[in-house]
Amino acid sequence: MSLTQKLMPFAVLSIFATVGASVVACGDDDTTATPTTDAGATDSGAVDGATTDSGPATDAGTDAAKVPVWEQLGADDAARYKAVQGLVGKIVTAELADTAIAPYFGAGRLKITADQLGECLSQQVATVLGAPTATATYPTTVFASDPAKKYTCRDMKTAHTGQGIADAIYTKFLTNAVTVVKTNIADPLGSEIVSKLAPVLTGSVKTDIVDNKVCTTDADCAASANHKTMKCTADTAPATTKSCQVASPL
Ligand code: HEM
Repeated sequence: MSLTQKLMPFAVLSIFATVGASVVACGDDDTTATPTTDAGATDSGAVDGATTDSGPATDAGTDAAKVPVWEQLGADDAARYKAVQGLVGKIVTAELADTAIAPYFGAGRLKITADQLGECLSQQVATVLGAPTATATYPTTVFASDPAKKYTCRDMKTAHTGQGIADAIYTKFLTNAVTVVKTNIADPLGSEIVSKLAPVLTGSVKTDIVDNKVCTTDADCAASANHKTMKCTADTAPATTKSCQVASPL
């Protein structure tokens, strides 16, 4: 059994449920933010750096004395952003290793490259984690200095419409992401990062991404424009429902 399967989706949701409701918007900033570097989203070394930088958060004291999550990620904004890129790279790798998630990123489905996807995600995650706008904002243009790679990241609803992402698939995606954060970044910083991301990812972002079609047979999916290429698939236990999902190639 994989690490992902061992994690109960509902356990993750209950972690999220303990988080406050201070949602950080990530879909309505300007689109002309400073472009990011060409560093690949799969760079991973900086995550370990972030782990070792988590000391200040253990200081007892008031909230005011706490070092912000963003500042714990590295010595300066460039290092902190690199840490986020490393983390996002690991998350993407974990998602693609999950046979329920990978088909959504399969051949013919992507309009953007893996680099662009990773960089858009890094900008989004860094924004939520408190990066200054000179470092990250969302939506934004990535690889702005390279005409061949330049891309303006879309808002969540536009990017995911028509993909038929069921609630259970979304939960699985989040579970994988939380696992990566918690296994790569020691507490307390790991938990603080999850706590910062949680309200955003279970709030407006989820509403914009999940496009659930409950079904009984494949014909129910075929009858829907958004789901016609999908199969009626059992949702992740303990759910007993079925929903239209991208068919696994396995
Ligand atoms: C935590 C929740 C998620 C976040 C924050 C997120 C974020 C993003 C971002 C920033 C992009 C790039 C924007 C763009 O294409 O312009 C993107 C694209 C994409 N996302 Fe998500 N996503 C999430 C969940 C999911 C899930 C659960 C799936 C499917 C299992 C998924 C599938 C995709 C695909 C296939 C694309 C590329 C779309 C294209 O090339 O047209 N996402 N996502």
